[in-house]
Parts: sequence; structure tokens; C-alpha cells
Amino acid sequence: MTDILILTGAGISAESGLGTFRDKDGLWTRYDLNEVATPEGFSRNPALVHDFYNARRANCLAAAPNPAHDALARLQSRHAGRVTLVTQNVDDLHERGGARDVLHMHGALSGALCHDCGARWPAPAVMDPLSPCPDCHRPTTRPDIVWFGEMPYHMEAIQDALLRADLFVAIGTSGNVYPAAGFVSEARAAGIATLELNLEPSDTVGQFDTVRTGPASQIVPDWVEEVLTS
Ligand code: APR
Ligand code: ZN
Repeated sequence: MTDILILTGAGISAESGLGTFRDKDGLWTRYDLNEVATPEGFSRNPALVHDFYNARRANCLAAAPNPAHDALARLQSRHAGRVTLVTQNVDDLHERGGARDVLHMHGALSGALCHDCGARWPAPAVMDPLSPCPDCHRPTTRPDIVWFGEMPYHMEAIQDALLRADLFVAIGTSGNVYPAAGFVSEARAAGIATLELNLEPSDTVGQFDTVRTGPASQIVPDWVEEVLTS
């Protein structure tokens, strides 16, 4: 009975129309990440940052899970071993595809945070710098997203699940951003089998035992079918 840890990136949501960060017309080719995805950028111009995430929240709402999201939810519910789903994505397409207990290590568009008192609540569709925190009532709200330079969430749970896994699978991530990009070398060091599923080889492709390329909406359901019927 194999325990599996899965790490997903923007590539799994690309075919749902949410785009990626570093592909040719990715988000970071159209926005300066220092302006919209760092605490410094937020303190310089909170309205710009809220607008950026309001637009991404609207895109996410208009998007639908694709067969890759659905397949991972099927794997979670039918596989005899434990399937831990970690995502770098801030969209909720895994959950809308039926996945449970998804670990959003970079936060989620559906969450709001008060950077003064630390309160968390479900994010409204549109946030702005003046909207008051429901707890301390100060205008100190931000999207509950982990920005560059901040500590990703759920790292302890992820490390636990990684070292207990028999297989580590990275899906649709370029292997550019740590600590997520380092999971494959941690898995290898622990003697855990590694598999990459991606449209094209990632920057960390050389560290994977097995690599399958193709669109996630095709190769993820194929892989899940194999696991469930083996
Ligand atoms: N199917 C499978 N993989 C795809 C598809 C697809 N249809 N389309 C693109 N990809 C792959 C690309 O080949 C690339 O490897 O998705 C990956 C996207 O890479 P990035 O844009 O760098 O996204 P990601 O790896 O998730 O970025 C990690 O960086 O900016 C931060 O916080 C942000 O969570 C993000 C993190
Ligand atoms: Zn507060």
C-alpha cells in the first residue's frame, strides 16, 4: 500500500484558463512580482496589490476544475494508501474538483488576513485597503497569500507526509521556487521514488526517477488510472 505525496503548481490549473507565472505569457511577464507579491510591495501600494488579487479571485471564480483536478480527487478517495495533496496554487480548483484537506503552502485567494491582529476570515470577492478587519476593525486587511520572503504554510505537515511517503509526484510546477522546489531532493535523499508530470521538463527534471510530459488534463488522469488499477 503506497503512501503518495503530490505537489502541484500552476500548470495543473493552466487548462482551466488560470495561466501560469513563468510560461511565455505568464503572470510574471505581465506584472512585476516585487510590486504585487512581496510585503514591501504591499506596504508601498496596498490598492495595487488588492486589485491584482481581486482580478485573480474573479478569474478563479470563472474557472472550472479540469480532468487533472478531478483525477487527483478520485485518487484521494479510492487509493488504499494515504494521498497527501500539497499545492503552491492559491486557486480552489482542487477543492472544487472534490479533493479534501488540500495543503495550500502559498495561501489561498479564498482567505483574508489582518496584518495587525492576525485574524483570518473568508475573503470577499473584492478587497480594498480601507475594508476593516472584522476583529480589530482597523483597515489592515490583506489577501491570505504567502508572498516572496514570507514563510510558506503547513511546512511541518508537509515534511511529515514527505518522509512517510513511498512516492513523491510533482505536477505542473517549474521547480523555480523554494522550499517547494527542494521537495524532490529531500525525497531522493530519503530513498523515496519520484515522478514528474509536466507539459515539458521542469528545471528540476534531472532529479526525478520518472518523467512524463504532456498536458495535465491528459497525463494526470492516465497516471491516476494506472495507480488505481495496479
Ligand atoms: N499541463 C502540465 N503542466 C503545465 C501545463 C499543462 N497544461 N502548462 C504549463 N505547465 C507547466 C510548465 O511547464 C511549468 O513547468 O507548469 C509549470 C508552471 O511553472 P510556473 O509558472 O513557475 O508555476 P509554479 O511552478 O507553480 O510557480 C511556483 O512561484 O510565483 C510563485 O507563488 C508562485 O506558487 C507560485 C510559485
Ligand atoms: Zn485585525
